[in-house]
Amino acid sequence: MGIAYGGDYNPEQWPRETWAEDMALMREAGVNRVSVGIFSWAKFEPEEGRFEFEWFDEVLDLLADNGIEACLATPTASPPPWFAASYPEALPVDTEGRRLTHGSRQAFDPSSDVYLAKALAITEQVARRYADHPAVGMWHIHNEYGCHNARSYSEAATAKFRTWLRDRYGDLDGLNAAWGTAFWSQAYSSWEQVFVPLPTPTIANPAHVLDFKRFSSHQLTRLYDAEATVVRRYSDKPMTTNFMTGSHPEIDLWEFAEHVDFVSTDHYLERPFEHVGLAFAADYARSLGGGKPWVLMEHSTSAVNWQGRNRAKAPRELIRNSMSHLARGADAIMFFQWRASRQGAEKWHSGMVPHAGTDSKIWREVRELGARLGDLAELEGSTVTAEAAILWDYQNLWAQEHEAKPTADLDAMRVRDTYYAALWRAGITADVAHPEGDLSGYRLVVVPAVYLMSRDAAENLERFVRGGGTVLVSPYSGIADETDAVYLGGYPGALTDLVGVRSDEFYPLIDDTVALASGGTGSIWTETAATRGAEVRDTYLDGTPAWTVNRYGEGRAHYLTTFVDDATLDRVVAAAASDAGVEPTAEAPAGVEVVRRSHVDGRSWLVCVNHLDEDVKVKTAAEAIDVPAGEVVVHAERA
Ligand code: GLA
Repeated sequence: MGIAYGGDYNPEQWPRETWAEDMALMREAGVNRVSVGIFSWAKFEPEEGRFEFEWFDEVLDLLADNGIEACLATPTASPPPWFAASYPEALPVDTEGRRLTHGSRQAFDPSSDVYLAKALAITEQVARRYADHPAVGMWHIHNEYGCHNARSYSEAATAKFRTWLRDRYGDLDGLNAAWGTAFWSQAYSSWEQVFVPLPTPTIANPAHVLDFKRFSSHQLTRLYDAEATVVRRYSDKPMTTNFMTGSHPEIDLWEFAEHVDFVSTDHYLERPFEHVGLAFAADYARSLGGGKPWVLMEHSTSAVNWQGRNRAKAPRELIRNSMSHLARGADAIMFFQWRASRQGAEKWHSGMVPHAGTDSKIWREVRELGARLGDLAELEGSTVTAEAAILWDYQNLWAQEHEAKPTADLDAMRVRDTYYAALWRAGITADVAHPEGDLSGYRLVVVPAVYLMSRDAAENLERFVRGGGTVLVSPYSGIADETDAVYLGGYPGALTDLVGVRSDEFYPLIDDTVALASGGTGSIWTETAATRGAEVRDTYLDGTPAWTVNRYGEGRAHYLTTFVDDATLDRVVAAAASDAGVEPTAEAPAGVEVVRRSHVDGRSWLVCVNHLDEDVKVKTAAEAIDVPAGEVVVHAERA
């Protein structure tokens, strides 16, 4: 089909007369795929056990007649009101122990067996009825697992948490050792004493909380597997669920990605990183699928409705955003949603057909995008190669979310995004890698505050550098093992040998910054670092090392002891990239994104996205490409 184009289609929100117009407009816009059925449970099963599918038969027939593929969802993300009324014990429970009520969506406890039974029953109905419908090309299991109910603190969760812990630790001795319960008299003498982490008088045991987050993530993956197993009995079409690679980090997507047939993700711009955050989310989606093309299941044509102040996209921004996803390996560009709703919680969320109708900026750009994607069919299946990677691991983030740490100013996601942004400004295409993942294809690896780091991960990095790779390590990396126990002997713990620097104490900054000899500034963090063989590149004004480089085997390890300003970080990244022999994809002004997609047969394209208000030239060794202000050029490279 070339590059797929479309969005979530929710015809049940509209009178039947609208459906024919929808088909005509979809054809006009070049739409060739829509996601359907996502929130249709109450229409499919208005009362428990009574099903009404005729209206949906008509929807799928219309799509088939118009040559539009259906990405058919199981509707299990929003159980109908009868579910809450009949099974109140299956509703989610919040951190304060309050049971939530029906009236929005995702009102179910992921640990509830009743929920699972009812979800599988409707899944079976949908799969059996529609597996062979000609419109159905793929399956969309559920919707955004864990978007609103990732962690439920119910009795059902407690029971399942205990089982999960027994599987993990074998016995209470194992649990007590892993959780360090010798501290504050917390040793457990029976499994019945173990609960999900409900409110405590003061600071909770960090290992307990971390394990609950691991457990909760696992529960959601398990729900996916259960539905996928039912669908698979009826259909051999590919299945996925829409991840959120740029937000909602409550699910370990490294684990989840092993369960889907292909990766899809949803992305919404968020301040302050906006289109740079988009690039990260797209690179991460690609990396989760091992580099294979992926599906952008949702993004927005303009404003969302959930950010307090919801910025409408500037003219051309919709095109730039979509093309950035395409540049980074997406083979499908889709939106939430086809028609902006008139009613309900999301009536102020943009759609492909806005409230204003077709005489609108949004519709004109939606049509233009459809036409342009139609012309880019040849890119389908092409891939992106990255020589750099940035490490990202949920368990590290979850550990750092704990309230008691050296400074509340250190935010693991913020550090990751700041370091990724420096790669983006340098024009370096990066993958996202798990700390224990295969790094052998990279020359440069960035380690942004990977505080929780297993011995295996530390050895992985040592092996990478010994073999000639370059790493750039931020403060607060390599500090604790996977049970959140601190490595002894000085910081950065497991990475001390690799970086050739040892600190005996952290000095988080309280309300000031630290000046650097280079003229730059450090913030949030300082250390009393002493070198052990590393070369010093920059210092605080008292001579304490701020930036060091250590030769290790055939490679080099750059280490920073403070969070430096962007200009300084750009210099550090440039030096590390130069050590690694990593070049930007093309020569382009900062603010212009250039990513190469290529086929194994040698055909390749440079996707150039100009985020600036001025016309620019993008130069490669062979050619110069004109990219007008705010525009996107997809340039076929000469073989
Ligand atoms: C998510 C959901 C959609 C919609 C959008 C709004 O991506 O999957 O149903 O709520 O957010 O931005």
